[in-house]
Amino acid sequence: MANSNQLPENVPWLEILIFILSIGLVLTVFNYIVLNDSNEQPVTFDVPIPEQCGPQWKGEVLDRPSIKVSGSSAIQCYCPANGRLLGFVNPSTPDGIDRAIAKAKKAQKKWSKMTFKQRRRVMKTLLKHILDHQEAIATVACLDSGKTKIDASLGEILVTVEKLKWTIQHGEKALKPERRPTNFLMMYKYNEVRWEPLGVVAACVSWNYPFHNFMGPLISALFTGSAIVVKASESTAWSTQYFASIARSALASCGHSPNLVQPLLCWPQAAGHLTSHPDISHITFIGSRPVAHHVAASAAKSLIPVCIELGGKDPAIILDDVKNLHQVASILMRGTFQSAGQNCIGIERIICLPKIYSGLISILGKRIKELRTGSSLDNPDNVDVGAMISDARFQQLEDLITDAVGQGARCLVGGKRYTHPKYPKGHYFQPTLLVDVTPPMRIANEELFAPICVLMPATSVTHAIEIANSTLYALGASVFGTNASAIQRVTNEVKAGMVSVNDFAVYYAVSLPFGGVKGSGYGRFGGEEGLRNICNTKAVCRDRLPGWIGTSIPPALDYPITGARRAWEVCRGVVELGYGIRLRMRVGGLWRFIRNG
Ligand SMILES: *[C@@H]1O[C@H](CO)[C@@H](O)[C@H](O)[C@H]1NC(C)=O
Ligand SMILES: *[C@@H]1O[C@H](CO)[C@@H](O)[C@H](O)[C@H]1NC(C)=O
Repeated sequence: MANSNQLPENVPWLEILIFILSIGLVLTVFNYIVLNDSNEQPVTFDVPIPEQCGPQWKGEVLDRPSIKVSGSSAIQCYCPANGRLLGFVNPSTPDGIDRAIAKAKKAQKKWSKMTFKQRRRVMKTLLKHILDHQEAIATVACLDSGKTKIDASLGEILVTVEKLKWTIQHGEKALKPERRPTNFLMMYKYNEVRWEPLGVVAACVSWNYPFHNFMGPLISALFTGSAIVVKASESTAWSTQYFASIARSALASCGHSPNLVQPLLCWPQAAGHLTSHPDISHITFIGSRPVAHHVAASAAKSLIPVCIELGGKDPAIILDDVKNLHQVASILMRGTFQSAGQNCIGIERIICLPKIYSGLISILGKRIKELRTGSSLDNPDNVDVGAMISDARFQQLEDLITDAVGQGARCLVGGKRYTHPKYPKGHYFQPTLLVDVTPPMRIANEELFAPICVLMPATSVTHAIEIANSTLYALGASVFGTNASAIQRVTNEVKAGMVSVNDFAVYYAVSLPFGGVKGSGYGRFGGEEGLRNICNTKAVCRDRLPGWIGTSIPPALDYPITGARRAWEVCRGVVELGYGIRLRMRVGGLWRFIRNG
């Protein structure tokens, strides 16, 4: 061996060995303590996948697709992309709602005692099942809502696994008792805030993301130790049954009661029974303004707190100095046409500065013209934009476009409902580009929830912010550009609950608190705030040295009070001792206290 005699004599073998061993030790400790791998392994379980997901399945095409059938109380479920019948669902009655809540209440008693590890195991089990069954989940969501599989992957699956992952990694920290400061007079106290389960909470969610909107609230509720009743929309009743059995099976496979999750499908008349039920401790409502008024009024009967998440008229402000207009246009396209525009944080208004206005029109015009609508399950390679949930709002959308054009806007692409030659019973609206829209137009103020791209010119950053702030809504917003101080101005001054910079809706993809202000609702779900908002925030103040130093009432203040004047002087002494601005006042307060106490 030529180089064996070149081997240095003083190789620190012992140190290297100790180094390797300590790395091994650190990894082992990390594995057991931080990852909790020993007892949080996810469980594998099976849920039958609906036969409608099979490639050979062809349901009857309904002549007049509608969730209501005359002469029946059942909910008729069909695919909005092609009008095919999926099945019927029996709606719940007030009695059924009572029974569901009673079951949840019973199961929650035990669940509330489960450790974070046990709750996390359910989350990991759910996460694994979703990751292993993305195809089936997306297909079911597409069948029931008419969206494309790409829309389902981004809007149903990605956001749900993010929420699970966040809850697994950060949920315990958000709910761990937190120490709070004390004050001079109470320096012998130890102050703490705890977040305790509320009991049975409820969520009334919208149809636009049937999987994610069902799973989101239940992930949070279960993790806080509560049970949940989720009232899904009657428009997506069919898929809710499958999604509910996933959640319930995840619980059961980890040894917990599936009754902790109660799916509820009913007609609006029966929903009031849930939203005013005395055994419900909190309601998360995701939906429209008119319905929110009913829910809030109903909840007021039992004084149930409500978190209200309504739609928005989200602005995207495009500054003059964007670096790559094509890249920005791609993000704007996704933000506008994701889920055929049926997205509460979808981009509803693009507010553009003058230098790039016409350039953006030509890029968007060309790309929107090329968008193909259709049923993504029947024809995966040829569909960009899916169907809408129903045709009920088509007239209203067309009227808004006509009204805007009458006032000077230009409709460059689309603008009308669309009878698809292959899917004549599907609910389609043409991907639309409307430019030169100004703030007074109705279309600049009403939420569209449709595949309509609205472009508004602004003369300056100030003007753009004014336009952004000019609607009733204030949910999300975004700003694109490079000038850091202009971006800072927009994020400061735009009235919104959430802002993303050079991106679309990214605050949701990183589990920040979600919600709006003004006409977009109140309260937050998601993130630390979301978890804490569905808990009982319990404030606990105790003695730091129990048995050694505690509160004792000075004799002058002890009931029955003998000398009112003396008692007043003692109180004044306490106030001045504790809160005097100058040292002199504090010393004076102490003297006043001692002299009279
Ligand atoms: C936008 O609205 C916010 C909040 O009402 C306000 O502080 C800000 O000055 C407004 N900005 C403009 C330019 O209108
Ligand atoms: C950046 O924006 C600020 C605030 O709007 C503006 O005053 C400034 O002139 C801009 N800078 C450049 C280089 O455009």
